[in-house]
Amino acid sequence: MSLKSQIHSTYLPQHIAIIMDGNGRWAKQKGMVRAFGHENGTKSVRDTVEAAAELGVKNLTLYAFSTENWKRPKLEVQTLMKLLVSSLKKEISTLQENNIKLSAIGNLNALPKKVYQELIEVIDKTESNTRMTLTLALSYGSREELLNTVKEISIKVKNNIISADSIDESTINKHLYTQNLPDVDLLIRTSGEHRISNFLLWQIAYAELYFINILWPDFTRENLYEAIIDYQKRERRFGKTSEQLK
Ligand code: IPE
Ligand code: IPE
Ligand code: MG
Repeated sequence: MSLKSQIHSTYLPQHIAIIMDGNGRWAKQKGMVRAFGHENGTKSVRDTVEAAAELGVKNLTLYAFSTENWKRPKLEVQTLMKLLVSSLKKEISTLQENNIKLSAIGNLNALPKKVYQELIEVIDKTESNTRMTLTLALSYGSREELLNTVKEISIKVKNNIISADSIDESTINKHLYTQNLPDVDLLIRTSGEHRISNFLLWQIAYAELYFINILWPDFTRENLYEAIIDYQKRERRFGKTSEQLK
């Protein structure tokens, strides 16, 4: 039986988030420069996006560049930004053919103008697509996102737009970059590292975590299927007892 046929379409994760890690190590293993790893990582992106859309996953969020990644050598940052522009240009047709809407979260103003412009263009062009929302986390940091949220809510309280008493979880949700997305159901990290690296801290409160010891350029749609099959075997109790769920 193929892996794909083992997936129950009625119980798909509504929102999958992926920390795409291991491009540098993948290149190093091959005696190549880190940029080679990033280039090859784009194949895994395409494969994963297509596979998720085909399955009927409604939301896929990919961690492509963190606020901390700005600290990398200038040349590597430049390579990643160039790769982003070329990928956006190249993949727009795939997004349109597959009816996928592109979105982005993060401090987008920090991106080079060219990247920002290309990104906005693809976001605008795919705005009315409905099959799946693909969100790229770019210059994204969860702490920065939460900090902005606190600031925005504080200003509203100060200006008597809302009262401090009325602040609840939904107020916070509405001020996050992810305001239009449901909570993450399944978080995947490649490369064998077991950490979150400042990704969607609030939104993964009850996500199922899946760590896989494969470097991102080697990640295929079969690996995505395996992760979803694993997810579907788990009992999500949300604090309740097993008996209560029956
Ligand atoms: C992930 O791969 C891509 C980005 C963070 C942009 P890395 O570049 O982190 O690769 P490793 O972890 O060094 O192998
Ligand atoms: C996390 O990977 C960020 C992205 C995948 C974009 P890193 O490689 O930057 O994470 P750390 O530094 O190993 O935690
Ligand atoms: Mg890494």
